[in-house]
Amino acid sequence: IFVSKSFFDQYGNYFISGTGLTVVLAIIGVFFGAILGVILALLKRAKLDASNSWFTQLGKLIGKIISNVYIEFVRGTPLMVQVYIIFFGATWLFHLNISAFASGAIAVSLNSAAYVAEIIRSGINSVASGQNEAARSLGLSSGQSMRYVILPQAVKNILPALGNEFVTVIKESSVVSVIGVGELMFKTATVQGASFNPFLPLVITALIYFVLTFGLTRILNLIEKRFKLG
Ligand code: ARG
Repeated sequence: IFVSKSFFDQYGNYFISGTGLTVVLAIIGVFFGAILGVILALLKRAKLDASNSWFTQLGKLIGKIISNVYIEFVRGTPLMVQVYIIFFGATWLFHLNISAFASGAIAVSLNSAAYVAEIIRSGINSVASGQNEAARSLGLSSGQSMRYVILPQAVKNILPALGNEFVTVIKESSVVSVIGVGELMFKTATVQGASFNPFLPLVITALIYFVLTFGLTRILNLIEKRFKLG
């Protein structure tokens, strides 16, 4: 493969703007995905308690069902299908004219939320049950036990997994190119067509994705080490 200087002169900006949009999409996706994911995880974990009023119990039950169905459905269908559903559904069902970018950002966020919910659930479950029993027998309420004993240990599992989710979303956001969002993969297709070169743009794009994910992984590993020392 021969990369002429004029190739970068002509098409460099496509890769730069595409990379920018990919990073923005991933940040939006993980940010809103994390917020919604925490809510889903809380709903899913709610314990039905006979001392609650029937109204509270019913609310918890409905929340559990909704979060379970949501998580299973989102994880059991391809992101590409979800992206199309949001993009066309917004117009078809609600007569909303949202942009391809907004549709893509919403779809990626909604998708990531289901994965984040499971990350949080498994992070909490990974703390040995004796920790909670010990905290309760020392007189902490279940809320205090969660806040002061379980969660501080759970974050050690949750944070690295959230970092991996970020890496996943950087790569998976390439799917939104199918609805015309001008992120890196979409721009790559543009350059392939404009330059009559189907191969070289893909190699450049693969390298860009790799630098992004590998760089992020390195940074996350450093942060993780700090965490362990502290
Ligand atoms: N490729 C898978 C799909 O299309 C993964 C989706 C995104 N994964 C994630 N952790 N957010 O369903």
